[in-house]
Amino acid sequence: MRLSLRFVLPLALVLAGLAYIVVPLVDQLTLRWSVRDLNTRAALVAKTIEEPLYEAIETGSNQKLLKQFADISEDERLYALGYCATPNAAMVATRVMPREIRCSKLDRYVGEDGYVLHTDREMIHVAVRPMGTGGVLILLQDMGYFVERSQQTKLYIYGFFVGLAILISLITVFIAQLSLRGWNEALRLLVRGKLPGEIPTAAASTSPELRPIARDLQRLIRELESENRSRDEAQINWNPDALKAMLRGELRGEDIIVVSNREPYIHVEKEGGIEVQRPASGLVTALEPIMRACSGTWIAHGSGNADRATVDAHDRVAVPPEKPAYQIRRVWLTPEQEAGYYYGFANEGLWPLCHIAHVCPIFRSSDWEHYVAANQLFADAVVQEATTPDPIVMVQDYHLALVPRMVREKLPEATIITFWHIPWPNPESFAICPWRERIIDGLLGSSILGFHTQFHCNNFVDTVDRFMEARVDRESFEVTSGGKQTAVRRFPISIDWPPDPLAMEKSAEDCRREIRAINHLPDNQLLGIGVDRLDYTKGIIERFRAVERLFELQPEWVGRFTFIQIAAPTRSSIGEYQNYETLVRAAAERINLRFGTEAAPAILLKIQYHGPREVYEYYRAAELCFVSSLHDGMNLVAKEFVAARNDNQGVLLLSEFTGAARELPEALIVNPYDADQCAAALHMALTMDPMEQRDRIRLMRSLIAEFNVYRWAGRMLLDAATMRRRMRLLGDTSKVA
Ligand code: F6P
Repeated sequence: MRLSLRFVLPLALVLAGLAYIVVPLVDQLTLRWSVRDLNTRAALVAKTIEEPLYEAIETGSNQKLLKQFADISEDERLYALGYCATPNAAMVATRVMPREIRCSKLDRYVGEDGYVLHTDREMIHVAVRPMGTGGVLILLQDMGYFVERSQQTKLYIYGFFVGLAILISLITVFIAQLSLRGWNEALRLLVRGKLPGEIPTAAASTSPELRPIARDLQRLIRELESENRSRDEAQINWNPDALKAMLRGELRGEDIIVVSNREPYIHVEKEGGIEVQRPASGLVTALEPIMRACSGTWIAHGSGNADRATVDAHDRVAVPPEKPAYQIRRVWLTPEQEAGYYYGFANEGLWPLCHIAHVCPIFRSSDWEHYVAANQLFADAVVQEATTPDPIVMVQDYHLALVPRMVREKLPEATIITFWHIPWPNPESFAICPWRERIIDGLLGSSILGFHTQFHCNNFVDTVDRFMEARVDRESFEVTSGGKQTAVRRFPISIDWPPDPLAMEKSAEDCRREIRAINHLPDNQLLGIGVDRLDYTKGIIERFRAVERLFELQPEWVGRFTFIQIAAPTRSSIGEYQNYETLVRAAAERINLRFGTEAAPAILLKIQYHGPREVYEYYRAAELCFVSSLHDGMNLVAKEFVAARNDNQGVLLLSEFTGAARELPEALIVNPYDADQCAAALHMALTMDPMEQRDRIRLMRSLIAEFNVYRWAGRMLLDAATMRRRMRLLGDTSKVA
């Protein structure tokens, strides 16, 4: 339709121009030239016949004159001839002289250039020449040939111009087609070029005129994609089966390689034999159910003293022990490597750097060297475990910041999803790290880089902008460095939902009774619970200070309320952690001395590891759970407490400095540095009406049910699948091209 218009329009314009402008102009010109020719000819003929006519005129014989006229007309191919002796005389003329031409009317034309007479049927040129006799000679020439010539000219002109118009139209269509094809191709490249992953953006960068369109198009595509994704995501009931189906459908059943420092199962030599332990780790809590669902390989540091004894020749062991579903591939580190890489650079350097918890980061170059070497070991293990050139690799956390780049160098087509489980600070804070560019560059080896909150994504992108030679697109949150793109995305982590039925086996009532009995507390004692690794970022001392303040401000709770703190020992060889443990113990002792009673302590501090089921019993037994982190990426304890309360009772006090606070506003949100505010929140929780507790906890439960850990992983994998599809498409097309 558009094409035919492109063809017809120039043609119609040319024809109209031809009919109304060109042809009349040419007609006029031809007429003028013909008249000029006829004038010249008339003058010549008049001159030639003047002499012979004199005689006849002199004799006064009209017969003689007419005879001569007839002869001349024949010789000179004149239409008619006439003679007027005076203006009043009758004209002596050949027969065909038109009646309109009379002697009385010719005065003004004498000697002039003649004129054209249009009769009914003919066009005649009239020339009036003076004679030496005093009279005038009238010469008429037929212009029939002119009409004929003019028509022929018109025909040529029409033919020429129509041909020209057709040619122009064809050229226009051809050029339009070419440029359309060029645009199509450029747009296709642009659409592809904007996508995260390792796709060239040459088209976008070399065609400045296409950039505004590209931007709009890209925005549109992003909006459509995210709308579609949210709609698709919301329609899925996220559980292990859904994740498996998604992997089969979207990722063609690709195996997944997870790589983290911490392993999900640790084999430990005990007196009775080898025991399997589950570490206290939010990362493990989140990823373990994913791996059960997806199979694949989990590469991690073999940190248990019986780990070597339990692996096969390839350093692999199938887990979970009761029903194997995936493999752990263990990476071995020497004590020096572990000290430098894990305790040193990761936990004395990056950990305090990223958690603004007022502990000064320590950076030693020897630790850095171990960090680089250990990261290389993990990256090599990934390359060994990959069974295809483009595996899906999920790199976890700050211990392995260099792994994405190291894997990318060996497996350029891999889809690398990196998740940073801790906060990312602002650029000024991150600038402290002497190897900041190396860390950022390592992470930019990822296809997708995930954080818990948008705030951390913003901080990361700002840091890249500040320190790297990279293009940062703040609209799409994509960073391009060395021609490769990394999509920076928010993926708030979550927990398994519905919770493990075995952990919920005992009724809340039984949990209440048993936990009080085990801890020698009165049956009606009100309980608060805190569950953390013994880490200074968790705000355990601040939490105790809030409990102390509660007793100071509301003494009616003394003897009626006990706060149980489960603190799993962690990173105990680091001086800061040892000091912290001492301070935590001292704070608990001091408060117990002030407010403990014979029947019950104010604070019950349990510095030991508790398994997930035991922890759930504590959650279900308590009136409230207090999460007072000074800074925390997400904090899954908050979500676990809510998940454990299927009796819809219990109150969550949650630090505003956790990622979880953004998702669970129905908790009592507190500033852990403000002891009075926290004490007031504790009082409020202890006196909260059961109906209000129910309303709040239901809302939080529904959020966790909707956004569980399968959805967290599913969203990342869906993004990865989209990226891989586009990569394949580009690969195929480029082959064709
Ligand atoms: O919060 C960061 C994190 O890696 C968590 O994912 C995990 O819960 C915790 O640290 C475990 O620390 P570690 O492995 O040092 O015991």
